[in-house]
Amino acid sequence: MTKIGDIDVGEFPLLLAPMEDVSDPPFRALCKENGADVVYTEFISSEGLIRDAAKSTMKLDIYEKERPVGIQIFGANLESMLQSVEIVEKTKPDIIDINFGCPVKKVVSKGAGAGILKDVDLMVKLTEAMVKHTDLPITVKTRLGWDHDSIKILEVAERLQDVGCKAISIHGRTRAQMYKGDADWKPIAAVKNNPRMHIPVFGNGDVNTPERAKEMRDDYGLDGAMIGRASIGYPWFFREVKHYLETGEKIAPATFQERIDTARRHLQMAIDWKGEKLGVFETRRHYTTYFKGIPHFKEYRMKMVTSDESKDVFKTFDEVEEKFGDFNFSEAQG
Ligand SMILES: Cc1cc2nc3c(=O)[nH]c(=O)nc-3n(C[C@H](O)[C@H](O)[C@H](O)COP(=O)(O)O)c2cc1C
Repeated sequence: MTKIGDIDVGEFPLLLAPMEDVSDPPFRALCKENGADVVYTEFISSEGLIRDAAKSTMKLDIYEKERPVGIQIFGANLESMLQSVEIVEKTKPDIIDINFGCPVKKVVSKGAGAGILKDVDLMVKLTEAMVKHTDLPITVKTRLGWDHDSIKILEVAERLQDVGCKAISIHGRTRAQMYKGDADWKPIAAVKNNPRMHIPVFGNGDVNTPERAKEMRDDYGLDGAMIGRASIGYPWFFREVKHYLETGEKIAPATFQERIDTARRHLQMAIDWKGEKLGVFETRRHYTTYFKGIPHFKEYRMKMVTSDESKDVFKTFDEVEEKFGDFNFSEAQG
């Protein structure tokens, strides 16, 4: 069994990766229903939390049904990070995760996210202070290093563990790579194989088929897989991976009925959570992907992504069900 602090997360857990504007409560709930063992919020700015910026505090919302859930925060200032730990604690997550991996310029230029990979001492100091400041387990998500010539993940992981970090998720790319090239899982396996390591080491990057997840478990020996892009618009990915890991067999893709029902629920949950306007707007990227593979769907996709009112989107869902209700995704995918 794998444990994050005292939380039992099962054998080879599947973790929903933190993803900005994606890993919100409705989407996390859907992933959880479909087999995600641990879910994370998108990253939340510590500075934003302290200023009580509405957008940041809204991201702290969690549903009971999605537990265990980790709230991810980022920042590079010790005082701000400690203050945000106090704010985050009040919303009672199961885990607090520190983002030491975000590669985007506006984050990195302030020394936060992957920017901190240039200052490992500060990374360790921040983690230690946060561990001491809360009873919740602190986990870290990071990348292999700043660039190819400065990969120090073995040392970094050991030092984070030594100051009390309870699990580490490693994206197998450097900051310099951004999202280019293939994720390299070998350095992650090296961290896991370090005899001094005893906290869970989760692999991340390009787990986009059930076979890849099995490879991560069986060939690289990692403790769990963190899954990001493969789940966007396809929360059923988790159950497909789970089934394959348990049986070695593939299950059929989600049926049309599951997809249309989920699209309706997703939109409704999003509206309930963030209101009509944002709910309609921010759910678009998911539900159009739900129907990927249906031929001659463009007209309906366009309606879904251009309607500003939910009643029109729901109407389009009804039309889609009427027209494509018999579509067989299993046959289409061969
Ligand atoms: C749209 C999007 C938003 C992301 N936002 C975050 C974030 O808020 N925090 C974070 O640690 N990583 C973030 N990431 C990185 C992912 O968590 C993950 O490390 C990366 O996508 C590689 O995993 P994958 O190949 O399974 O997608 C984001 C990725 C994407 C595609």
